[in-house]
Amino acid sequence: MNISVIGTGYVGLVVGACLAETGHDVVCADIDAGKIACLNQGEIPIYEPGLEPMVRHNLAEGRLRFTTDVAQAVRDSTIIFVAVGTPPGEDGSADLQHVLAVAGTIGRSMNGEKIVITKSTVPVGTADKVRQAIAVDATHSFHVCSNPEFLKEGAAVDDFMKPDRVVLGVDSEYAADVIRDLYASFVVSGNQILIMDIASAEITKYAANAMLATRISFMNGISGLCERTGADINMVRRGIGSDERIGRAFLYPGVGYGGSCFPKDVKALIQTMDELGADASILQAVDELNDRQKRSLLHALVARMGEDLSGTTIAVWGLSFKPNTDDMREAPSLVTIEGLLERGGRVVAHDPEAMAEAKRRFGDRIELVKDDYVALEGAGALAIHTEWNPYRRPDFARMKAAMAQPLVFDGRNLYDPQRMAEFGFEYHSVGRASTGEV
Ligand SMILES: NC(=O)c1ccc[n+]([C@@H]2O[C@H](COP(=O)([O-])OP(=O)(O)OC[C@H]3O[C@@H](n4cnc5c(N)ncnc54)[C@H](O)[C@@H]3O)[C@@H](O)[C@H]2O)c1
Repeated sequence: MNISVIGTGYVGLVVGACLAETGHDVVCADIDAGKIACLNQGEIPIYEPGLEPMVRHNLAEGRLRFTTDVAQAVRDSTIIFVAVGTPPGEDGSADLQHVLAVAGTIGRSMNGEKIVITKSTVPVGTADKVRQAIAVDATHSFHVCSNPEFLKEGAAVDDFMKPDRVVLGVDSEYAADVIRDLYASFVVSGNQILIMDIASAEITKYAANAMLATRISFMNGISGLCERTGADINMVRRGIGSDERIGRAFLYPGVGYGGSCFPKDVKALIQTMDELGADASILQAVDELNDRQKRSLLHALVARMGEDLSGTTIAVWGLSFKPNTDDMREAPSLVTIEGLLERGGRVVAHDPEAMAEAKRRFGDRIELVKDDYVALEGAGALAIHTEWNPYRRPDFARMKAAMAQPLVFDGRNLYDPQRMAEFGFEYHSVGRASTGEV
């Protein structure tokens, strides 16, 4: 099958590589010439486990191509995935300019029947707008379908190759058959393709992310109660997670959710619900609580160390919004670091993969070091934002010896508070009593 994927970011690149891996001819198109030049050399502009060898292999086999010529990519394919960004507009609603620009190009470039599949996360009703934008110049018949993507950064290749489910909103039996066939090799182990109307598919994506974000904000709210009463959020988490109606996943408190999806999708869903008169008050609370939570580590640190941080070095471990990615979009670390710099603090940071991205964002305003222990040298405190594996089992004696003051603010609850006190640290975490005051 000849497939084009328009937009070669975190989603488009994974979709393109995985479809090529299963034998399809895929052309990935993007307007970012720098990105396409890199990809044509087999260089992957993002860190995503397993993606680079897959892209290189399929490039070499000739099943995967990269181009900046979106119109030609459309002409070369019968199935077109739209995977461009849908960033938040000023009012929080999803900005559809890239999606609709691509739709216009598709309309102008038609040379036969096309099946257009929206992978980008778009508000309910967008398929109609895409259809109208294509129809302006369309010379052939076409289908517009919604196939929201549920992959997780850090496990994107696995998620796409072995999806829990494939959600498909279709406008015809024919389109359903073609896309079902396309996904046949990914759903061999009994997971389902859920075929539905387009509006339901569009809403499913937002509802899924909003539900997960709600669980996180809920637990962060309960953490505040634990901190005020001497209770331990870990115990509460286990206590409720063992109820199979609730389940264990996504009950981890922390310094707030970030990334390119949850914050923007919750805001966009609120906007859509408001516009249509549906009650979005739960999501409003989820969003507001998360904004406060993202400032919580900074607030704890300033409450302990004072407003004036000039002359103080703060070590930061973890910059990406979650482990196994270099993505720093909406990362809680950004909030803490900006707050520390505003107060005159010197920030020395480490991340296993996001150093280049941090350099791009902060330039010389922070120091980036390749060794996590070097970041600790002379530090008055350590702030942890990301639960990367190497941070989970550090050499505590070495940490303490390196720091000017053994003070740790842990936004991901990596350590046992009692053990930290025994090692001589003052340890602040989320939803648990602080220990070991120094
Ligand atoms: N990142 C994720 O984990 C994830 C997961 C599921 C769904 N999504 C959704 O998928 C969509 C894409 O997300 P992403 O993280 O891959 O974004 P991204 O910003 O990494 O990539 C988007 C790409 O689209 C390109 N682009 C923009 N306008 C274009 C145009 N007119 N023609 C061709 N290319 C164009 C950009 O240059 C960029 O490379 C979003 O709607 C997002 O909400 C993302």
